Amino acid sequence: MKTGFADRVKKAAAAIPTGFRPETAVILGSGLSGIVDGLGYHEISYAQIPEFPKPTVAGHKGVLCLSGKNAIMAGRFHYYEGFSMDDVVLPVFVLRELGVKNLILTNAAGGINPRFNPGDLVLIVDHINMLGTNPFIGPNPAGADGLPLGDRFFDMSDVYSRDLRAIAWSCAKVPPKEGVYAAMTGPSYETPAEVRMLKAMGADLVGMSTVPEAITARYLGMRVLGISCVTNMAAGIGTTPLDHAEVVGVGKRVETELKQLIFGVLSRLEIQGGA
Ligand code: HPA
Repeated sequence: MKTGFADRVKKAAAAIPTGFRPETAVILGSGLSGIVDGLGYHEISYAQIPEFPKPTVAGHKGVLCLSGKNAIMAGRFHYYEGFSMDDVVLPVFVLRELGVKNLILTNAAGGINPRFNPGDLVLIVDHINMLGTNPFIGPNPAGADGLPLGDRFFDMSDVYSRDLRAIAWSCAKVPPKEGVYAAMTGPSYETPAEVRMLKAMGADLVGMSTVPEAITARYLGMRVLGISCVTNMAAGIGTTPLDHAEVVGVGKRVETELKQLIFGVLSRLEIQGGA
């Protein structure tokens, strides 16, 4: 993190109307933003939040939706858009400032595991960071201007909460699959050789997001649930060339199932008081 990051977080958090104390937040991935349509949540455009970057990708709306106990970010920031890692993870710090304890990260991903099919929802059990960077390179923001304390060297052995996964299992209509997510920078999709490499490393899914936010959530002591929507088979696994419009299109088709799963988890957590 760069010096001054704490000020940026405070400034952004101060722009969120008081009265919203979300305990669980959802970050929606490419093509999955439609989930917030017609919800009746209070909406704040990212343009109204100082220090929040503005999404540049088709399929990302750029609104923060708030209700009593929940926050939903329709639109996220990717490293490939040219944003710094500070920008990519700033919203997670802001959500933590608002009181968020559980973070649900969703994404569109390419399926590497041949047991997966386009349209599958897969719970992330672990990740492989192939971004070549880490949001915590640089001064440790711990304690700066009252930001939550996090250790310089923090444990990553259980990033994706078993408890939240168990809740997701119990809420899902179709039993979800599980897998390891590898993050590449993009924006080009992978070559078949890269996909073979990721497969040999133990990855089941590949995408261009989620890992920086998951690392940050871990640093901040949040519980993380990661849900990938398999929008296509990764290069060389499927037979067709990859196309962003197709990725967004498949995301739209599974939106109903994902919405049902997310709201199932949210209501279960509300019943449990966020714990
Ligand atoms: N690779 C990387 N990111 C992705 C893919 C993919 O195949 N599909 C959706 N996001």
